Amino acid sequence: MERKLRIGIIGTGGIAGAHMHGYAQFEDVEVVAGADIVPGKARDFLDRHELTEAEAFESAAEMLANVELDGVSVCTYNTTHAECAIAALEAGVHVLCEKPMSFTLQEGVDMVRASRKSGKMLTIGFQPRYDYMRQKVDDIIGSGALGKVYYIQSGGGRRRGIPAGTFVDASKAGYGCLGDIGCYSIDECLHAVGYPKPLTVSAMATNHFGTNPKYWPDPENFQVDDFSVAFVRLEGDITFVFKQSWAMHADSLGDTLWLGTEGGIKILNSPTKRADLPSRVMYFTDVNGMHTDSFVLPSYPFNAYARPQFDNIFDQKMRAFCDAILEGGPAPVPGEEILMNQAICDGIYRSAMLGREVVIDIPEI
Ligand SMILES: NC(=O)c1ccc[n+]([C@@H]2O[C@H](COP(=O)([O-])OP(=O)(O)OC[C@H]3O[C@@H](n4cnc5c(N)ncnc54)[C@H](O)[C@@H]3O)[C@@H](O)[C@H]2O)c1
Repeated sequence: MERKLRIGIIGTGGIAGAHMHGYAQFEDVEVVAGADIVPGKARDFLDRHELTEAEAFESAAEMLANVELDGVSVCTYNTTHAECAIAALEAGVHVLCEKPMSFTLQEGVDMVRASRKSGKMLTIGFQPRYDYMRQKVDDIIGSGALGKVYYIQSGGGRRRGIPAGTFVDASKAGYGCLGDIGCYSIDECLHAVGYPKPLTVSAMATNHFGTNPKYWPDPENFQVDDFSVAFVRLEGDITFVFKQSWAMHADSLGDTLWLGTEGGIKILNSPTKRADLPSRVMYFTDVNGMHTDSFVLPSYPFNAYARPQFDNIFDQKMRAFCDAILEGGPAPVPGEEILMNQAICDGIYRSAMLGREVVIDIPEI
């Protein structure tokens, strides 16, 4: 067999295990190094995964200077994504960076600039992109079946789901539910329509649950949002209504919706509403003046066995990164595209802090 792809992992905490799970399955890939700023943590991680030969470091810079790598997974907390991704790109190494892309928009811009300058790939870890039904929704909307899309709203949200650890520490996570799961909602809603440029954002963010001992054990140290909403104007006369929660007194913040001049798509998010239905995804249109509503069902047109090679969407994320390195790109989830997502997160954060609408200004790359 030809030389295996050589991968390093920066940040060996929780999500690094999911990256390792993917890489460990690929015969053409080996994890040869890990780095974590907590002394001994990278060594423990590599040993736990029976990679006793792999080298462990206490900084990304040290790892990049001492080990020949093709790619790295950046699995650090949000506020250090940019410094680690940029260090790897400048060292000539391809980057798969966990979501959200970064904390500030400027960090995201710097990451894309570093990728352009080095000619190395920057891809962002949005594994829901590999979900089969998500891909079918993207296909339907991408086919133009909805006509001109003019309104999009995110839905879903958690009733009780505040994560522990670094997720609630503002110096490490930057954002709360906005950066943790809000960035997924934004990606789900806007990738389907080609990520129109955001123009303005008016947002609110609260933390009524994280700061209440009835709902969270350490309210004194809860430093981020657990709920946020925003009204976003997008280029092309599209309105985007965003909402996300880690905790609330409801089973859902509503359905995800794309409204177009010829049709609409709705993803049913309430667990009670969707219990007996054939699918969570509905398509609405008008045929000869008749309201015509249908469920979008999984279908495998020609070959019942032509299913995705890996059912685990996390594993598919790592496989797509490795394939892009082996085949010379493009990035599966390009940094340039996710800059629009980052611009919205940054705008929501700033608008909520300032208590007024903000203009989104994305610097030239
Ligand atoms: N894709 C997903 O489904 C998913 C799930 C969970 C977390 N995440 C993302 O993964 C990232 C990490 O989350 P986690 O739960 O693993 O956090 P974590 O706190 O468990 O792990 C982060 C690790 O990074 C290390 N680290 C921080 N800065 C570093 C630096 N400059 N150099 C080297 N190591 C550094 C920390 O010491 C820690 O061990 C976050 O951005 C989070 O949003 C993604």
